[in-house]
Amino acid sequence: MPEFPYPLLPPYRIKVVEPIPFLTAEQRREAYAAAGHNPFNLRADQITVDLLSDSGTGATSADQEAAAARGDESYAGARYWFRFRDEVQDLTGYPHILPVHQGRAAERIVFSALLRPGQLCVSNTHFDTTHANVELAGAHTLDLPCAEARDLDSDHPFKGNIDLYALERTLTGPDADRVGLVLMTITNNGLGAQPVSMANLEAVAALCRRHGVPFLLDAARFAENAWLVREREAGYAHLTPREIATRAFQLADGCLVSLKKDGLAPVGGFIGLRSADLFATCEANLIATEGFSTYGGLAGHDLERIAQGLREVIDEHYLRSRAASTARLADLIHDAGVDTVRPAGVHALYLNAGRFLPHLTPDLFPGHSLASELYLTGGIRCAELGSLYLGGMDEEHRLVQPAPFELVRLAIPRRVYTDAHLDYVAAILAEIAKDPERVRGYRIVSAPPLLRHFKVRLEPVE
Ligand code: F0G
Repeated sequence: MPEFPYPLLPPYRIKVVEPIPFLTAEQRREAYAAAGHNPFNLRADQITVDLLSDSGTGATSADQEAAAARGDESYAGARYWFRFRDEVQDLTGYPHILPVHQGRAAERIVFSALLRPGQLCVSNTHFDTTHANVELAGAHTLDLPCAEARDLDSDHPFKGNIDLYALERTLTGPDADRVGLVLMTITNNGLGAQPVSMANLEAVAALCRRHGVPFLLDAARFAENAWLVREREAGYAHLTPREIATRAFQLADGCLVSLKKDGLAPVGGFIGLRSADLFATCEANLIATEGFSTYGGLAGHDLERIAQGLREVIDEHYLRSRAASTARLADLIHDAGVDTVRPAGVHALYLNAGRFLPHLTPDLFPGHSLASELYLTGGIRCAELGSLYLGGMDEEHRLVQPAPFELVRLAIPRRVYTDAHLDYVAAILAEIAKDPERVRGYRIVSAPPLLRHFKVRLEPVE
């Protein structure tokens, strides 16, 4: 492909638009107080730029909507199913494919078939629902991110990698018999959207083969990982993102995929497997809990949208412009005086709120304070990844074990916001950066016992 001089240029133009609300500062203050100072409780019509999640929030294309209109809603064996299955088999190379309504259904079904109580699931980093589903199967998670991941400022190109020495020690040490599964998350959403290199995946595959442990991918952002491999890893520049993605899938025994990210769809997921036995167990569970194996809890039009989305997401013009847009936002944010986890990934940027707001100790939740300020100053919604989400609390909701980092994730929906919207985000951060000491901390008023961050209510500390 000839060198393309305008990496930011997206390979589409906009045909259908949705208005975004503009609230006054007073209206935002009132809305945020009514939401218990928790961005998850805000209403979409109170938000100007929504960076809460890149999951299910992307824009679909004219071709996807045209395909959806062709969706065949037969209960079993519908036309759409064969198109979806062929597309996924072709991309992954796995013979056995099961559709599910979203990623966590894939997690539940596969873990209940594969993990026994007391076993370990080892990963570069488990996503929160992934962790919860391992625990629901009676097993435990072990995260072994590489050492570079702990240095937020390091420009190491593959900070999503697993620590191979630690993995080998686990597979040969006293807990070796307990390891039921190795799961690699690409890209590593829990740790800064960082990619995993092909060399790392190859080494994991070899270790798992040697020790007879199944190896799966949590491949929600398989296309973005493939793009970063192509850009950053020697020996891949001549391959298409699709070829790289297929090679990654081929290294593993199967995959769990949320299609709400790189499926470019509002809903959906799939399980891909090599093993016919594991497939049969998962299929029985799927039919009992999600739906028949040719629709898995999805409508025919959903599967048509996804089959088309899987072709569009792997397009190099699309991936190049999305990565360039995120990287540009990272530069603007740095210029505004706020550090982000480096290097920039694709689906999200992670603000280093702990460093930006040193006057706020972890028990005042600096990440949450910055996320709140982004809403109060600019109507921007995002969420913290810090002590509010990950910290240990006592019965009175006082922080007893801070999280390792106080971060805020700006997740960027696919094909939804232009660079003008992202300029606005940087401008609001620059506004906050004029006087960071003005940003107040928060204390918890009430919190549920599980998955605290979704339903917690807080109040500002004067
Ligand atoms: N795995 C990863 C790496 C994820 O990021 C997610 C979801 C899931 C699995 C679960 O998939 O939502 O389809 O059930 N991540 C979203 C996010 C929610 O905002 O990062 P799901």
